Amino acid sequence: MSAPSTPPPVPPVVTEIAGDRPVTAVWVNELGGVTFRIGGASPASAAEYVKTFPEAVAYLLDDEVPRLRWARGYATVPEVLGHGPGWLRTAALPGRSAVDSQWSGRPETAARAIGAGLRRLHDGLPVADCPFGPPSWVGESAPPADRLVVCHGDACAPNTLLADDGSCAGHVDLGDLGVADRWADLAIATMSLDWNYPGADWQAVLLAAYGVRPDPERIAFYRRRWNDEPTSPG
Ligand SMILES: Nc1ncnc2c1ncn2[C@@H]1O[C@H](COP(=O)(O)OP(=O)(O)O)[C@@H](O)[C@H]1O
Ligand SMILES: [Mg+2]
Repeated sequence: MSAPSTPPPVPPVVTEIAGDRPVTAVWVNELGGVTFRIGGASPASAAEYVKTFPEAVAYLLDDEVPRLRWARGYATVPEVLGHGPGWLRTAALPGRSAVDSQWSGRPETAARAIGAGLRRLHDGLPVADCPFGPPSWVGESAPPADRLVVCHGDACAPNTLLADDGSCAGHVDLGDLGVADRWADLAIATMSLDWNYPGADWQAVLLAAYGVRPDPERIAFYRRRWNDEPTSPG
């Protein structure tokens, strides 16, 4: 998953939603999904985003819609403006992905925001009211939970947005949100730091900002589960 190197074709549904507003492909994932920004040349001037998935994995967007709607009662996540087979239209949240070029050179700030942002998300989403089971890749027979929370489910760095002051501005990509041990998110968030900010180890910064000591066994367990799962879009 990365920013596209050559512009992918714009699907008709995106052209129709955009009308006469500018369209920019901003993200291509490992499943062939493409996210388009509508209404501005940079995240600062974005109005909406439309995420499009190939037919074979379009059901993943159907999973995301009710999760976004539920989580929006408690956390800063995008408002759903519409969806259909293979597409999901959301209102732009102000902020830039933690892997935007503005932040990729400032990994310490990004790691801190991701950790603090996950803490706020976990503290804000009510487990007792959550209608969603564990993230798909967590599976059965996990070790006893350190703390059950509503996990983001795909807590890799690009899914945290940062405000210009370096604080967490919200979360996107909630298709796998559900109740699980908080280490399901922390294991993936810390693992993604190595992919997105190579060259140094930022795990300690993220976990300190979250406010937890490393738990190497749970981290290893959830990373193994994640790596065994073929459809983790990132
Ligand atoms: N509503 C939104 N507001 C701000 N940024 C968004 C929004 N929706 C998507 N994005 C941006 O597009 C990227 C891809 O969207 P995402 O839902 O994470 O797709 P994928 O499932 O392919 O990872 C995000 O990392 C984020 O930068
Ligand atoms: Mg994503």
